[in-house]
Amino acid sequence: MSILNKPLTRRQALACLTIPFGPPLLASIYGFGVEPRTPEVERVAVSLENFPGKLNVIHLSDLHIQKDSLIMRRVVALSNALEPDFVFITGDLVEKPEELPVCLRLISQLKYKHRIYFVPGNWEHWSGTLADGLITKLESRGIRTLYNEGEVIKWMRGEFFLVGIDDAYYGNPDIQNAFKYQPNDLCTILLSHAPMGVFSAQLFRCDLVLAGHTHGGQVNIPGFGAVTTPPGSGPFEQGLYDVKRSKVYVNRGIGTSVVPIRIMCPPEITYMTIKGV
Ligand SMILES: [Fe+2]
Repeated sequence: MSILNKPLTRRQALACLTIPFGPPLLASIYGFGVEPRTPEVERVAVSLENFPGKLNVIHLSDLHIQKDSLIMRRVVALSNALEPDFVFITGDLVEKPEELPVCLRLISQLKYKHRIYFVPGNWEHWSGTLADGLITKLESRGIRTLYNEGEVIKWMRGEFFLVGIDDAYYGNPDIQNAFKYQPNDLCTILLSHAPMGVFSAQLFRCDLVLAGHTHGGQVNIPGFGAVTTPPGSGPFEQGLYDVKRSKVYVNRGIGTSVVPIRIMCPPEITYMTIKGV
């Protein structure tokens, strides 16, 4: 009998299967089971003209909380250890209304020196939570929603203007109303779930935009970038961009949507230090 006709042993058969299917199998195990549960802190420093002093912010986005998962407990612990001045959350808390109580309990555990600010994303519309009193529920936990409005924040020896809009792609953004009371000379930070909000904000002074929505694409190929990003992402994937007069930071988000996978695109807690030029 030639070696080609000899029956394979169990180990040889397993080896034959592992060579072609092993790497995709390992990538799947990692992409579905490991990376989505492994949040990373991205430290970002931004200098803005006329910003009064120094500010440390935690920026979270696209939580997509489904249950009291290990990842969210890690996110809360990592965020609290950084002792931020403010926490900014740019939308997409949950996908189903029944998941909201768990989400509210988890984000109520976030610690900060001053306040949490929130703006809605597309899922606040699709889940029905925004129409069902989300803003009031957040307010009762001390979380301020900036729904097409802004406020002047006294900071160190000066002030800055913090403004938020409804989701720029699927929501009802009203940029004119949001910026209506913008003081002429104050450094301005915009919270916008969809990064495309930066384009309409160019009518006003807008020094920095904090956004999410893209999830960073969830799967990244080195040298290529995100495999795909959701509608409303525009040209943005993740990280820091310059758009005309504004800097734009796009957070990769915490959760996943549609397919629960992340490869080379871990969940992100942004720890941003903002200071004046
Ligand atoms: Fe979104």
